[in-house]
Amino acid sequence: MKSEMIRLLRESEEYISGQELCDRFQVSRTAVWKIINQLKEEGYVIEAKQNKGYRLLESPDTMAAYELESRMCTKWAGRIVSYKKETGSTNIDCKKLAEQGEPHGALAVAEMQVNGRGRRGRGWQSPAGESIYMSLLCRPDFAPDKAPMLTLVMGVSVAEAVERYTGLAAKIKWPNDIVVNGRKICGILTEMEMGLETKEIQYLVIGVGINVNNGFTAMRETGNPVRAREAAFPDELQNMATSLFLESERKDEKIFRAPLVQYVMEAFEKNYELFLQTLDLSLLKERYNSYLVNRNAAVKVLDPKGEYTGIALEIDNEGDLLVETEDRGVIKVYSGEVSVRGLYGYT
Ligand code: BTN
Repeated sequence: MKSEMIRLLRESEEYISGQELCDRFQVSRTAVWKIINQLKEEGYVIEAKQNKGYRLLESPDTMAAYELESRMCTKWAGRIVSYKKETGSTNIDCKKLAEQGEPHGALAVAEMQVNGRGRRGRGWQSPAGESIYMSLLCRPDFAPDKAPMLTLVMGVSVAEAVERYTGLAAKIKWPNDIVVNGRKICGILTEMEMGLETKEIQYLVIGVGINVNNGFTAMRETGNPVRAREAAFPDELQNMATSLFLESERKDEKIFRAPLVQYVMEAFEKNYELFLQTLDLSLLKERYNSYLVNRNAAVKVLDPKGEYTGIALEIDNEGDLLVETEDRGVIKVYSGEVSVRGLYGYT
């Protein structure tokens, strides 16, 4: 009811009378008043005018379930949200949701992770309240070998959502880092649970970390963009990582996170359904390739069997990267342990 009330207040341009809220939710005036007060305590600015009713003036920058659920217009992606202020990892939380029988599309989110997990056993820096940490539960009925492609489906969805929400030119560093101006703003970690005997996918968890407001506090305190960048990430990530706040060159205005979560869910639901039509990336690859940061540029392929250079052309229907080399023709690069870099810097 709380999320429905927020939705109603947000979508209405007029005041909504207390009576209308009572009728809509079949509760007493006192119950409505209690919820309005709770929302105010949680940071919503709600104007109450005699003989007119209530009007929502401002929402807090929160990832709380009622805020996210109040925004979702999807059929299944992110319709059910499980929120924690602090957690180990939302991927683990999402696995627990799966074990508890939550449906396809359930979303675990947190304001902060103390054990954020990255790819290849790395960690994921997850400070409180600044970024998006979320993990989406998927219960597909296709074969396990198709699963890695969903990471690319999420990658293109995040790029679309970032572009739609911020207007920044998001790019994809194959296979699934989202970058803005050559630095990473998002990482994706997909984990799969298989049935012991059936060898079918039991469920998948797609974890997404988006750096949103890193650097905001330092910027407000110092007014200096260089200091803000230095404060946002540890030394070893300075040249590799960035946030939407830093790239948008804002001075003292935070970026609200909830609408971005909403846009990612909308884009993912649409793209997932395109993926299901062919069980490969044929309907999505053109869009994905248009975001490819190194498209038609020289790259170094860091293959454990031997590094080589070439020109990155595009991904194919399976999400492999096609790299044209001088001496060995076009090579299909499979993700997994191989990384691809531009000749200079991280991307
Ligand atoms: C990468 O290394 O690029 C992947 C990083 C994925 C981080 C996200 S944050 C939300 C979810 N929970 C985790 O512990 N990891 C993923």
